[in-house]
Amino acid sequence: MAFDPLQQKGMAVEDQLRNWSELNVEPYAKRDVDPFTRVRVILMNGIEVESILFSHQFQRMTDNIEIKQKLALSRRVEQQQQKVVNWLNPGDQTPLETTIGYEQVAVDLTAWLARNEPDPMLKQALDFALLEDFDHLYRYANLYELIGGRHAAELTGHLTEVTPGRPTFLEHRHPYDDVRGHYETHTVDPLSRLHVMTIVAAEQQTMNFYMNHGTDWMEPVARGLYAEIAQIEEQHVTHYGSLLDPLDSWLKQLVFHEYNEIYLYWSMLQQESDPRIKQIWELHLDMEIGQLQVAGDLLRKYEGVEPAEILPRELPDTPVTFEPNKDYVRTVLAEQTDLRTDGVRYVPVQDLAADHRYFAYQQTVNAGGVPSEQVIKENRTKHGREYRDETEGPHPIVELRDPEHGVG
Ligand SMILES: [Fe+2]
Ligand SMILES: [Fe+2]
Ligand SMILES: [Fe+2]
Ligand SMILES: [Fe+2]
Repeated sequence: MAFDPLQQKGMAVEDQLRNWSELNVEPYAKRDVDPFTRVRVILMNGIEVESILFSHQFQRMTDNIEIKQKLALSRRVEQQQQKVVNWLNPGDQTPLETTIGYEQVAVDLTAWLARNEPDPMLKQALDFALLEDFDHLYRYANLYELIGGRHAAELTGHLTEVTPGRPTFLEHRHPYDDVRGHYETHTVDPLSRLHVMTIVAAEQQTMNFYMNHGTDWMEPVARGLYAEIAQIEEQHVTHYGSLLDPLDSWLKQLVFHEYNEIYLYWSMLQQESDPRIKQIWELHLDMEIGQLQVAGDLLRKYEGVEPAEILPRELPDTPVTFEPNKDYVRTVLAEQTDLRTDGVRYVPVQDLAADHRYFAYQQTVNAGGVPSEQVIKENRTKHGREYRDETEGPHPIVELRDPEHGVG
């Protein structure tokens, strides 16, 4: 189905403002919600937050009052969209339960993007960080059982496996080794640009969430785990953010942001199982089309560029889809757990020289104990085993199999 957002009428931005009761939506029910609905809410909140942060940065970089005013109007609406989306999260969903949702997003979004990414360089970037967020899910799931006595699968619905990935303590890299090379804006496949913008927004939201919620606990191991994993999310935002071509103008970037929001709301509504939430995705899709028109008008007026010159003729055929990616994750686990980075390159750990800055960095941050290891140890002590949800059999890497469960 060909869908060209530039040919759609959409809703005019002036008509998009909503009142307080419209923003204060009824949340979903935590125990009944489709796990992938929770995941869609988390993703789209992150997408709106990125659109807002980007717009604030843009207005600080321009002296054009018309652009500032148009940005202010669209941004006010983006803020309202963010409220509607994020307020779907219920108050009885604890920050740790939301966190498990964040890592489920990271796993199944990243895996899906990697499976559909045409550029091998970008696919490698996705595969690389996939194994790290996959490990975070396992660490937080153990924290969840340790301090709350509950199983993460109640939230993930067994749609995503819970088992070690690249162990978190090994993910701590020297900052220089998190910077990647970028795609070229003139030659990049439009789908790749959308993929990168989406994962940057998702990782940034995760980083911000842990920055703010890491102090919600009394237990030192919980506070430590959030501090540690929050630093990896900082690495991920650096890693993915450096894939974007920095040479796109601010106005072009604005157009790409609106276009990506359109692509994602259009994607979310295809699969949404909750009819009330589906209506939100439909409404927001209509709003984003109106916002794209404003951004496109500014691009035309101030840069003399037609939006159609920089946008694909139609949306990608395939919507971004949340579905189980268990086989894919297992394949990447088997092949890439040993990968590290050396500058912009990916290398097996055994190829790093003994004096590589990776090891020095590891020694500095891991001196004195590592919360992501400690949480497993404490949960094993408390429950006589650690928490895993391996629905597809024993771990593909022998060294990462659970000794308590025996070897398959
Ligand atoms: Fe938006
Ligand atoms: Fe993560
Ligand atoms: Fe991440
Ligand atoms: Fe927007």
